[in-house]
Amino acid sequence: MEIAGRTIVVTGGGNGIGAALARRFAADGARGVVVADIDGDAASTVASEIDGLAVAVDVSDEVAVQALVSTTEDRFGPIDLFCSNAGIGPIGGIEMSNEAWQEIWNINLMAHIYAARAVLPSMLERGEGYLLQTSSAAGLLTNLGAAAYSVTKHAAVALAEWMAVTYGDQGINVSALCPQFVNTAMLDDPSADPAIAAWVRQGTIEPEEVADVVVAGLADERFLILPHPEIGEFFLRKATDYDRWLEGMRRLQRQIHEA
Ligand code: NAI
Repeated sequence: MEIAGRTIVVTGGGNGIGAALARRFAADGARGVVVADIDGDAASTVASEIDGLAVAVDVSDEVAVQALVSTTEDRFGPIDLFCSNAGIGPIGGIEMSNEAWQEIWNINLMAHIYAARAVLPSMLERGEGYLLQTSSAAGLLTNLGAAAYSVTKHAAVALAEWMAVTYGDQGINVSALCPQFVNTAMLDDPSADPAIAAWVRQGTIEPEEVADVVVAGLADERFLILPHPEIGEFFLRKATDYDRWLEGMRRLQRQIHEA
């Protein structure tokens, strides 16, 4: 899919990766870019820069996601590309409260389902449309210190995979964006283990670099979009010898804490 002339929604578009995507889509000549975010002020700031439309929305509220789609269609016509990108990344293991697990589940997984339910009928009727879901390298591998994040990002990849198989013959493209660490506010969680946070910071790329890789991935209509190409290699190693990969991850965890 080429970006020029397209109507595109980006959730979580007020900051970080979503804001970089929105700016890049506008620069590449999209017809309309809708910047959707729970932080309405952030959405407005980005939208005003790119002559887009800001919508304040909580993506874990299905009715609000349906309204986002209607608002977009009223303003720009049918949606060509829906980037379901908003996400949260709380640090913590299985001890996290049930409420916290439910919240991340609603945002990192259910929001993708709400988006797909809202846009797919029109896309299927037209025989074309593109769903981009931001998952994470944690959806293919695992994220040290973040159980719920890893689990929900795996679920997001599984959903994207299922939709790619189910709707691919009907003109629908699906991609799963799986970056490793990107220099955004998400990495500033003060509750993060300091050793892991320092290790994470060594390997970050900028959101604009992610946007470059996304545009190339969309042009190729590639399912897995990997801004850090080595993640594809790690994924292969995991599939080839799971136990060896697990031992490698445990060693990495030990090394980070001993450093
Ligand atoms: P960010 O924190 O800079 O941006 C996330 C945006 O989502 C914020 O503007 C926030 O207001 C919005 N948001 C949060 N909850 C929302 C909700 N319920 N409804 C609507 N908007 C909501 O973080 P970043 O890094 O740009 O994250 C974007 C996506 O990329 C997330 O899905 C994240 O999990 C994923 N990701 C981030 C990585 C990183 O290292 N920063 C690595 C891999 C994936």
